[in-house]
Amino acid sequence: MCGIVGFTGGRQAAPVLIDGLKRLEYRGYDSAGIAVADGGKIGVAKVKGYVKNLAELTHDGADIPGTMGVGHTRWATHGVPNDINAHPHLSCDGRFAVVHNGIIENYAQLREELTRQGYEFVSETDTEVIAHLLESVYAGDAKKAVMKAFSRLKGSYAIGILCTDGSGRIFAVREAGPLIIGLGVGENYFASDVSALVQHTKNVIYMEDGQFAELTPEDVTIFDSFGRPVERKVSRVTWDVEAAEKGGYEHFMLKEIMEQPATFKATVEPRVVDGEVVFENFSLTDEELHGINHIVITACGSAGYAGQVGRYVIEELCRMPVSVELASELRYRNPIIGEHTLLIVISQSGETADTIAAMRECKLRGARTLAIVNVVGSTISKLADNVIYTWAGPEIAVATTKGYTTQVAVLDMLAIYLAKRLGTIDGARYSHLVEELLGMPAKIQRALDLNKNIEELAESLSYHNDIYFIGRNLDYAVCLEGALKLKEISYIFAEAYAAGELKHGTIALVEEDSLVVAIACYEPLFEKTMSNIEEVKARGAKVLAVALEDNKKIFTKADEYLMVPRCEPIFTPIAEIIPLQLFAYYVARANGCDIDKPKNLAKSVTVE
Ligand code: F6R
Repeated sequence: MCGIVGFTGGRQAAPVLIDGLKRLEYRGYDSAGIAVADGGKIGVAKVKGYVKNLAELTHDGADIPGTMGVGHTRWATHGVPNDINAHPHLSCDGRFAVVHNGIIENYAQLREELTRQGYEFVSETDTEVIAHLLESVYAGDAKKAVMKAFSRLKGSYAIGILCTDGSGRIFAVREAGPLIIGLGVGENYFASDVSALVQHTKNVIYMEDGQFAELTPEDVTIFDSFGRPVERKVSRVTWDVEAAEKGGYEHFMLKEIMEQPATFKATVEPRVVDGEVVFENFSLTDEELHGINHIVITACGSAGYAGQVGRYVIEELCRMPVSVELASELRYRNPIIGEHTLLIVISQSGETADTIAAMRECKLRGARTLAIVNVVGSTISKLADNVIYTWAGPEIAVATTKGYTTQVAVLDMLAIYLAKRLGTIDGARYSHLVEELLGMPAKIQRALDLNKNIEELAESLSYHNDIYFIGRNLDYAVCLEGALKLKEISYIFAEAYAAGELKHGTIALVEEDSLVVAIACYEPLFEKTMSNIEEVKARGAKVLAVALEDNKKIFTKADEYLMVPRCEPIFTPIAEIIPLQLFAYYVARANGCDIDKPKNLAKSVTVE
């Protein structure tokens, strides 16, 4: 949550910062601001609302002179979104400007202390304490002041600091908040996400917790918290700037939905070698693997729902008990987890605070950890014993789509891989499943192409205030994600229920013209789901069925339908979610919602 950027070089900083903020806006979008040093003075522009307001205010930065600065796009934690609470925040003497992502947990204590010393606070933010703290510890050396201030802060944060002590330096501080340095020629940058850097450079340094960096136009030095230089590990970004742009689509979400045949392929194909699933750096030995008696999947939101699909598939193929745990609950539950547990951690961003905390808790108890992550170099990827990247490329829309399907792809591959190593699958089935998985990009494409009328259909149903999703087994796992997609971007109340649970309470809500989305692709339980469809129809509900395209029976019962191509049954969720993503997208569009920037949400939830 919150995007931060920093730049120091030989050209005007403000346009570079604003361009970076536009690319980071999906991380938070309730206000935006920049601070640029020009000689001994800091010029600040900040405004409530989108980055485009800031761009308008400053004529794309042209009005703000100076060649080094910091910028911020905010997702409010402390203090309402307004011009004053927007970052950057300045020290009273105007020497420091600060941008910040995360939470300073001891800010109240620091604020009291600094107020007693005579510092005047103008905002309600926790961030402002950092600016005053820097001023209070400054004794002629900005680097020492950063180090001293850093030692006083508690919490999880990434901070960008601009100082006008004449030395042309900006600073970046990381403690459990994503921060990446970009190395240019005669100019250097930092940002909370690679997507703000790739248009300038592909050479990056992923900072670690407890480090701070000093950037000049010519050089970047990384220090540990004691101020000792540490080795710089330079990585190369593998994707191009076009991957983080809309490419002609009206919204990033639609572009990312359409990309899924390609992203699924990019996740799966390189990992099938001569008909065998191979994972890079998978370090569990056979002995360790056979010692595992329980798999726990932990994640938040859609990543957790991908885990729900994974649970069915892993249990089916590996005959091993699997539980899916919400990270926000697991972290506080004193979980029964030990060295015989394999913990699978799923996260697109790799920076979700609850997921990181749950993972740390389970690691302390001896669990082996395997992370399924999209963002290379993210905190979760570094904490895990083993990492499988989803290689989905940058996901910009707040609502995940390709992130989710590539997570399911990895879970499916993992299930096949583990089943072989555990000896729970025969050779013929193994080869069949690998072949089918390789064929899924074509099935996803077909799922995209099949429902030509989906825009019209979504529009006609967009007036509903609440929508129920029902399904059984794998279909239920998909319901969870389908309902979340709809509610987060269209603000329509949508909830998923296991169809068999309907009679145990929820059916009381169903009335004349209620909309029930019935997912009915899981054939072993098809007749049971049909009975549930009859039950809700008997109470006046309208049914939108999601069914296999060759299933004639359902079309006679449903009022409306979305079709899914026939796939290997355990992979059907991958095709099933596609029309549901499109449905959510077009309902939200029909209702005039800001699809890529849904209210109250942000892409990466780096605070608890
Ligand atoms: C929903 C969505 C969220 C994320 C969740 C976890 O569309 O995107 O529910 O899935 O916040 O995020 P990651 O995967 O980054 O840990």
